[in-house]
Amino acid sequence: MAVREILLYIEHSDALRKKSRPVQHFDEKAISLIRDLKDTLNANPDGIGLAAPQINVYQRLVVVCLKGNDVENCEPRPPIALVNPKIIAAADERKDFDGCLSFPGLYGETNRPHHLRVTGLDENGEPFDRLFEGFDAVVVHHEIDHLDGILFVNRIESMEDLYRIHKNETGEFVRVSLSDFDFSPHIRK
Ligand code: NI
Repeated sequence: MAVREILLYIEHSDALRKKSRPVQHFDEKAISLIRDLKDTLNANPDGIGLAAPQINVYQRLVVVCLKGNDVENCEPRPPIALVNPKIIAAADERKDFDGCLSFPGLYGETNRPHHLRVTGLDENGEPFDRLFEGFDAVVVHHEIDHLDGILFVNRIESMEDLYRIHKNETGEFVRVSLSDFDFSPHIRK
């Protein structure tokens, strides 16, 4: 078991923009990477997904916590791994909530598919062909983006869609727009 350090933007922006390579062999190394990604995600309860490049490993492997069809239960399930995930079909693009463990405290609204068909290997090294829907599709799409060095701020269309959450004087959590803060050079590549 190992909880790894998560690379943070802006300090590690070059590393986070690197493209990851396919996992060539589903061996002990891959299994240990899956374990480290799960341990690291579990140690960060705010997160619902983590990609290998976020822990400085440039292999196409991600872990995601999914809700599935269980709309009653708001709690995401334990993380599962997707190895060499490949998007086969994407549809139903909509604006939805986004955030990232590499950008602590920063949130936004991005356009992502809510219907996503993905192939790859599961955490037992078995091929899968799976359909992700709703916010699960958003989470999987966000993590696959990391493997291509694409960060959620790259998908922000307007500064008004980017915000932090602060507690106000009465203890309520409120959105604070980033328009006062010059983040614009980082939004588009
Ligand atoms: Ni992320």
